[in-house]
Amino acid sequence: MRRILIISLLASLIGVQPGLADDDPSPDATTRGKAIAFDRNKGNCLACHAIEGGELAGNYGPPLLLMKVRFPERADLRAQIWDAAVNDPNTRMPPYGRHRILTEEEIDLVVDFIHTL
Ligand code: HEC
Repeated sequence: MRRILIISLLASLIGVQPGLADDDPSPDATTRGKAIAFDRNKGNCLACHAIEGGELAGNYGPPLLLMKVRFPERADLRAQIWDAAVNDPNTRMPPYGRHRILTEEEIDLVVDFIHTL
């Protein structure tokens, strides 16, 4: 255990992040995306979705689980968040991109986070 701690400490000192592939979002992006998703004045995704680590979640929408399995293509996940009405014209999920509820950058960060679930 101690050896693992020392190795990961050394790895973080020299900037190596074990287990992180080139195309994976940075931990910073997923942390920021999570904050936006959970913020009641931003994404407010917890109003309708159970999300790991979130409190007082609603259940109007499905729990956000296995997102990489449900959305192998990141672009499809982004499209759902940008405008859920494209997949379901009667959806009650807010069109975050089309209505500019979130900026394009904020949507990218939220997608980075949601794709880790
Ligand atoms: C007002 C309720 C509501 C809010 C707020 C909401 N959603 Fe949804 N969401 C839904 C509903 C309902 C669905 C079910 C499919 C549909 O109607 O589009 C859904 C579907 C989804 C799906 C597809 C899930 C799957 O397994 O197919 C994703 C991903 C998603 N939402 C992400 C988000 C994210 C990220 C946010 C916050 C930025 C968010 N939603 C905010 C209601 C909501």
